[in-house]
This record gives sequence, structure tokens and C-alpha cells, in this order.
Amino acid sequence: MAELAVVILASDDEQRSMLQVLVDGTNVARTVHSCSAFPVAATDPLLRRIHGVSPDVLMVDIPNENPTSAIRAIETLRAEVSNAAVFAVGSMSQPQVIVNAMRAGAREFIERPTTTTALLEAFVRLTAAQRKHGQSGRRGKVFTVVNAKGGTGATTVAVNIALSLHAVHGNVALVDLAPLGHAALHLNVKPLFTIADALRNLHRMDGSLLESFMTRHPDGLHLLAGTSTPTSVEPTTSEFAALFDILVSHYRYIVVDTSTRLDAATRLVCNLSEYVLLVAHTDVASLWSAARVLQYLGESGGRERVRLVLNRFRKIPGFSESDAEAATGVKLLWKIPNHYVAVSNSIDRGVPVIQQNHSEVARSFTGLAATLTESDESSKRGGWSLFKTV
Ligand SMILES: Nc1ncnc2c1ncn2[C@@H]1O[C@H](COP(=O)(O)OP(=O)(O)O)[C@@H](O)[C@H]1O
Ligand SMILES: [Mg+2]
Repeated sequence: MAELAVVILASDDEQRSMLQVLVDGTNVARTVHSCSAFPVAATDPLLRRIHGVSPDVLMVDIPNENPTSAIRAIETLRAEVSNAAVFAVGSMSQPQVIVNAMRAGAREFIERPTTTTALLEAFVRLTAAQRKHGQSGRRGKVFTVVNAKGGTGATTVAVNIALSLHAVHGNVALVDLAPLGHAALHLNVKPLFTIADALRNLHRMDGSLLESFMTRHPDGLHLLAGTSTPTSVEPTTSEFAALFDILVSHYRYIVVDTSTRLDAATRLVCNLSEYVLLVAHTDVASLWSAARVLQYLGESGGRERVRLVLNRFRKIPGFSESDAEAATGVKLLWKIPNHYVAVSNSIDRGVPVIQQNHSEVARSFTGLAATLTESDESSKRGGWSLFKTV
């Protein structure tokens, strides 16, 4: 994402400098100006200075004692610097202050003391929303596949929809973020590099370097392979944000397999996603887990992007689809039939079901991929030309 320009308004010196360090630490935003006073009226010269630096975000720290002037400032800023989003930073212990800040026009209310990760998530939400409204050019769409619990079928879904999207549209990348990556096995390819190599080389990353870390499937799909050993050094969320920024500028669709991974990286990628497919079975443990996963993902926003995919679906007498929605709190998007022999053989042979035949389960994956992209105007191969695969 293009770097966001941030103006910090905080009357407390310590808080102001701390916010600056945290904002700059996200690597996706930069403090362009900071002020110790709040604008009091539309004619305030401070507003002219703020206009001069063309900010994307105005971060207003609301002091615990005397929040009124900060709230009034939010109102003035919303009216006078209407291109910028206002983020309020304050204590969660005063609900009325939160309500007033949001009413005054704050887009986000960020709890103090805050962290780089919390700020990064808020910045990502903002850019994702702006992208939706077409403010930042043509960017690839991300679909993330998470499972309710291990063995539910996230990798199978991710691999098959990535191949299907690639067959129809071209220019698709599959990114394996799972704690232990299985996508290469499903595709029977031997990666020379993994996502860890890409993250290590972010400082010099461009399109051609990104391509060199990709493993090519014979059908043309690009795989950014997952780790084959659980790693001890975790990249920061801002490193993931930078990587995905490059991915969305190069690929039309990016399918992410996170499988059981539930951490800040998964939350970040979910926030960047068009849809998050939560794969579950129709048994009690699976549906219970799906509800917990939704709760975790929802803590950083983006709950509305999550859709339920019931894998190995079978009709259970007395249990309806709306029961599954009620148990998980997630809207049902798709059901995939249960074909254990076909699916497990295809994984063992490294030939995903979608490549093999026109079985019911293969058609189901094709249908799911088509549903995910039905709102995209041009679905013809080559219709999107920012980047061409070779
Ligand atoms: N639609 C399906 N029908 C039957 N078996 C399936 C189906 N989808 C997945 N499986 C089986 O479930 C197992 C786990 O799938 P996998 O995609 O690795 O799950 P996850 O990534 O969620 O851990 C696979 O080995 C496969 O045999
Ligand atoms: Mg998996």
C-alpha cells in the first residue's frame, strides 16, 4: 500500500512522541506533522498547516481528563480536512468518550496504550475500505482460507480454488501461510524458496524478485510456498503487510491458505481479504471451533468478510443449514460434497481433484471460485493487464 501520511495531535508530549514512534514503526504510515494543540475553529491557522501536508490520517489523542476539546477538534477536523480519516486514541474505560468521538466523526477508536500492531491493523482497514471504493487503482483481490480446526479441508479448498481461478482468469498466486505448509505437496511441486525467503528479502523486493521466489505449477499457477519446518523467528505483521502490498500489485487474485494459523499475521491478511473462507464440518466440535475462530478474527474487525464453507457436507436429519449459521455466527457461502476416496487419492498423487475430472466435488470447487469472483466485471483471461504471467 502507498505510505499513509499521518498527522498526530496530542497535548501530552510523551504520548505524542510515543505515537510517532509507533506510527513510523508500522512501515505503512509516516508521521508528517505533529502538534501539541487542537484546532479550535475553522479559521485556526493550525488547519492551514495540516492542509499543507495533505494527510491521509489525523490521529487525535483524547486526554482522560478534559476530553471535550479533543472531541470538538475531531468535529472541526472532519469538517475542514474532509479527505483525511480521523483516528481517535483514548482510554476504553470511558464509554461515553468513545461514543462521542465516533459521533464527532472518528473512523477508529484505538485503545491507549496502543501498539504498532493495533495501528497497523487500523491502517490496513482504512486502505482496504478505500480500495473498495476504487480510490487506489487496480489491485488484486485476496481470498483467505482458514479452517475451524486441523484436517477440515482448508488446504484442499485453497489449492483447488486457486487452480480454478487461474484456469478462468490467469495471473493467480497461492500463498501458503500455514504453520507447516502442505500446498506444495497437494500440487506435487518442489519449491526452491519459501515465504520466509521472500520476507527476508523485502528490503529489495520488486515484481521480478517476487516471481523468482514463486514455484510454478505446470498449469501456470504461482505458489509462494510455506515453511517446511516450523519457524522460530516470526516476521512482524508490517513485513507481511509489505509483502501483500507487492502481491496485490502483481497478481489478479491471491488465494491464501492459513489452515490452522491463528495469529496477528492471519488477522492482518484477513483484514486485507475480499472474503475469508472459514472451512468447517457439520459436527458439533467443528462448528464450535468455527465460532471461536470467528471471534478471534473479529477482534481486529473484518467479521463481515468471513463466510462459512461446509466441507465434506452431508445432510443430517434435524440439522439445517441455518442451524450451522446460527451455531457459528457466519453466513453460509458454499457446501462441498464428501468424496473421501477421490480427494485423498488426489492429495496422495499430487493431482488436485479439479485437474482430474468433472466429478461433483471438482464442480463444487469451480462453482465456489466463480461465486467469489461474480462481482468482477471482466472475467475473461487477459482482461487484466497490469502484469502478465509468462
Ligand atoms: N470434500 C472432501 N471430501 C472428502 N475428504 C476430504 C474433502 N476435503 C478434504 N478431505 C480430506 O481431509 C483431509 C484434510 O484436508 P486438508 O485440506 O489438509 O485440511 P486442513 O488444511 O484444513 O488441515 C485430506 O487429507 C482429505 O483427505
Ligand atoms: Mg492445511
